[in-house]
Amino acid sequence: MSYIEIRNIFKIFGPDPNAALELAKAGSDKEEILAKTGNTVGLHDVSLSVEQGETFVVMGLSGSGKSTLIRHLNRLIDPTAGQVSFGGEDILSMDIPTLNAFRRKRLGMVFQRFGLLPHRNVMDNVAYGLEIQGTDRKTREAAASKWIDRVGLAGYEAKFPDQLSGGMQQRVGLARALATDPEVLLMDEAFSALDPLIRSDMQDELMKLQAELHKTIVFITHDLDEALKIGDRIAILKDGKLIQVGRPEEIVLNPADAYVQAFTRDVNRGKVLRARSIMEPIKPASGTDGFSTAHVVRYDTRLEDILPVALGSDTAITVTGHDNHPIGTIGKKQILDALSVHSND
Ligand SMILES: Nc1ncnc2c1ncn2[C@@H]1O[C@H](COP(=O)(O)OP(=O)(O)OP(=O)(O)O)[C@@H](O)[C@H]1O
Ligand SMILES: [Mg+2]
Repeated sequence: MSYIEIRNIFKIFGPDPNAALELAKAGSDKEEILAKTGNTVGLHDVSLSVEQGETFVVMGLSGSGKSTLIRHLNRLIDPTAGQVSFGGEDILSMDIPTLNAFRRKRLGMVFQRFGLLPHRNVMDNVAYGLEIQGTDRKTREAAASKWIDRVGLAGYEAKFPDQLSGGMQQRVGLARALATDPEVLLMDEAFSALDPLIRSDMQDELMKLQAELHKTIVFITHDLDEALKIGDRIAILKDGKLIQVGRPEEIVLNPADAYVQAFTRDVNRGKVLRARSIMEPIKPASGTDGFSTAHVVRYDTRLEDILPVALGSDTAITVTGHDNHPIGTIGKKQILDALSVHSND
């Protein structure tokens, strides 16, 4: 079983959610339900599984239901219908003390507006979660120092939030979320308020940390490039409905509909596509015979790094797998296919 399980969630906002729920279950869409009942569909029959240790990105346009979805994970809101569980545990049936302990111990949250306490310095902000867990000062400051250092803010312990740039404040936000060693990090548009270069630095920082920490991260963004860069898998929402879930390459190569295709059209394919998704697979029986070893790339090489090799080669490039055995080839046809925009419809 996956770590986080979301099953058939409907969330209706408004005066008569149950009347709207019946219509939604019968197939009416958001617009129709609003017109008929005055209720707003936040989520429409969404089911998702998030694996332990993966960075799971939820993306969609404004109003598509991203924040509504993440608020179900910390139970800031309850669904009109459906189930949410963590590690097999139903979080909707938790009583208040159990829920509070669950939030404090197992979840870390990073917000778009940083959410730092203005009258506490960096050290006390990062140590805050441990403080409310009742950890003694020495222990929590040792843990906080470690995380302040890890996010590159050593020396800033005594500064206050308003003395820091936006990027630095969000590093504090990240250190604070990590300081309690949560299983799950929930990040709602965490980098969206940052300037592009700082934002890109923060994405790199998060990916570096994640390569070591293997947290389960649910990351919300309306930016496809960000989603493709950091996501192991991406879920795309539209009008409260789940349109597609897949690895970045799957989203780009096989957009589920015109909405997803519109998002992916301007994507830099060189950065997203990898050798394994564009190669012509080798049939296992054919072994290594007959393949040139002059030009070899690993299965996870990005298209942008394959192109120079392909341009300098008259023969097909060999793609190798985990154990360095050939698993496929990339010739001119595969390169051209990867660079051209397909659609399913
Ligand atoms: N508390 C609420 N009361 C009424 N309607 C709500 C409430 N919260 C969300 N909605 C509605 O639910 C839908 C989904 O909203 P949500 O905030 O989840 O979208 P979002 O994808 O996070 O958008 P954004 O990118 O703007 O943050 C929208 O139509 C919104 O108006
Ligand atoms: Mg939102």
